[in-house]
Amino acid sequence: MSKTWLSAPYPQARLRRLRMNDSVRQLVRENHIMPADLIQPFFIIDGENQKQPIDTMPEIFRFSIDLLCIEIQKCYDLGMRAVALFPVTPPDKKDMMGSHALDSDNLMCRAVRALKQSVPDMLLITDVALDPYTTHGHDGLLDDMGCMKNDETIDILCSQALNQARAGADIIAPSDMCDGRVGRIRECLESAGFHHIIIISYAAKYASSFYAPFRDAVGSQGNLKSDKKNYQMDYCNSDEAMREIALDISEGADMIIVKPATFYLDIIQRATQEFNFPVIAYQVSGEYAMLMGGIRSGLFPRDALITESLMAFKRAGCKGILTYFAQSYLQNIHK
Ligand code: PBG
Repeated sequence: MSKTWLSAPYPQARLRRLRMNDSVRQLVRENHIMPADLIQPFFIIDGENQKQPIDTMPEIFRFSIDLLCIEIQKCYDLGMRAVALFPVTPPDKKDMMGSHALDSDNLMCRAVRALKQSVPDMLLITDVALDPYTTHGHDGLLDDMGCMKNDETIDILCSQALNQARAGADIIAPSDMCDGRVGRIRECLESAGFHHIIIISYAAKYASSFYAPFRDAVGSQGNLKSDKKNYQMDYCNSDEAMREIALDISEGADMIIVKPATFYLDIIQRATQEFNFPVIAYQVSGEYAMLMGGIRSGLFPRDALITESLMAFKRAGCKGILTYFAQSYLQNIHK
């Protein structure tokens, strides 16, 4: 759609008039970051009173459930209304099938139950995929060639989603990229009476190098012997992302995620314009690590850089932003 821009010539028009001071800049500002737009991902570990640094992600920690509850209460008090949870599974609980994902007493379920007690109004987003639970680090079952099996994986993902729903998850987020999983998970949730559970689908998830620090954080990196290109998307494509999103919406997703975000702003913008549907940007671990690297080396001003990077997603049109900067943005930068 082309727009006709009504504009007077210079000097009637001087665009700098609206940039002259902070008051006027605020008055005409087109995009804003609100506390409830931001979603902080959290890594969970077993034990008590545990707060472990993550080598590849400065200032991000793995928390045991007791400390996690305190941290998430802080986020709630800052105005955040949703967090995403990622468990770190002890190696002895992993197998080829990711069976531990179905254990109602696994770390994820225990964390969800504890959090629903201590911060009841915080929306809990649980990840549906088997990579934290498999010895090979892939998101589902593998065939003899090492390719992820689709329909057999979905059977397990459905049980995993139900397991999380029973524990009290508010939002189920399938991040596995199997075909048809949103529809099957929706069906399972409906028939088990979980009509209210929201599905945020990782609809456009690209096979990206930017997930490396995350895999270090959840301890799946060392296990992974091959890439995820037979299920995650080829970053050469954009139309394909629109097809993925259209399918997930038709299968019953309530929101969709574009991931990574910074290098995929075109996808965020296209998705919001083509679908008129809530889109969430996921600024992933590698984007975080890259920006933090620049900040910590003294190359960039911290607050301004973080704000600029988050504002790019709002400008592209997304509603929510999953980012490892969420809590620290609200604590230190947001006015
Ligand atoms: C796996 C999953 C990944 C991330 C979220 N869920 C990694 C992957 O696909 O290998 C990455 C998030 C990040 O890098 O911050 N289901």
